[in-house]
Amino acid sequence: MQKIVVLTSGGDAPGMNAAIRAVVRTGCAEGLRVYGSRSGFQGLVQRQLIPLEPDSVANCIQHGGTILKTDRCLAFYEKSTRDHCRAWLAEQGIDGIVVIGGNGTFQGAALLAAEGGPTVIGIPGTIDNDIPDTEYTIGFDTARNTALQAIDRIRDTASSHDRHFLVEVMGRKTGFLAVDVGIAGGAEIIVTPEFPLSVAQIAEKILQTREKRRKLSSIIVIAEAEQPGRSMQIAAKLGTLTDSQYRVCILGHTQRGGSPTTLDRLMASEMGHMAVKGLLQGKTCLMTAVQHGKAVLVPFLSGERHTRFFTDAGLLALNDILCI
Ligand code: F6P
Repeated sequence: MQKIVVLTSGGDAPGMNAAIRAVVRTGCAEGLRVYGSRSGFQGLVQRQLIPLEPDSVANCIQHGGTILKTDRCLAFYEKSTRDHCRAWLAEQGIDGIVVIGGNGTFQGAALLAAEGGPTVIGIPGTIDNDIPDTEYTIGFDTARNTALQAIDRIRDTASSHDRHFLVEVMGRKTGFLAVDVGIAGGAEIIVTPEFPLSVAQIAEKILQTREKRRKLSSIIVIAEAEQPGRSMQIAAKLGTLTDSQYRVCILGHTQRGGSPTTLDRLMASEMGHMAVKGLLQGKTCLMTAVQHGKAVLVPFLSGERHTRFFTDAGLLALNDILCI
């Protein structure tokens, strides 16, 4: 192992820079030449590798986003594109790649390795925390703290004006973010893709809660699911069904940016280091993961599951009690 590449792909997540930094500095400490691929797999397709030295990653650990830039490269799902990249990587003498991203990123990387490309280790990075076989993905903690701060602020104005709010958080397929910030922010109702509620069911819940205690202000946290912005329509219908007005706040991409939390920086640093060590030991198609609270290497994309779903109905039941 002499030359490795690091790339970030898919949606960005705070803490990706800390992971890049750990890969570059561990690689250099081990005597490797480290290169960055700009904009994920695009950099391989366009044959652009950036040499990275310890200095190249100075002063980036505290910043959100990714200094390598990122993209969702659909062309990489085509075998002809991967063949073209594999041949070029071999010419360049690239032995290993560290990919930082989510499920789509790992799928592309696994195919490249399986078809005879360089060995690959993945680092899970997505604010959704929805990658199978790991309890944690880089960016999740920062995103939930960003969303929680927003909810706290909305609570101030909601209570001052006696208003009801719908706060829409990210989470395309999963509700990890919605549940954590909903409970921590004292939301009256939490709606996730895994435990969906129709507008009529949300209204019924509101009316039931009203019988126990009529609150003058409240916050419903709702995951965007596959329809970002869906809370606008829901709010309008809820208004009619419950005879109250609902204001909407869509947090959107604010949750993806910002300075990473301590936890995200720590996890990213540990995972970046572990990924390079794994490559040096000749390992491939593994992912750095957190299992039972410890960082470990596990096979990525084992089985057919490409998404980890929120399944803990007990947490939602807990919230139903605590929010009264
Ligand atoms: O996968 C992470 C995520 O932030 C989802 O929560 C969200 O639905 C999606 O990315 C948004 O993607 P884009 O930035 O491409 O609109």
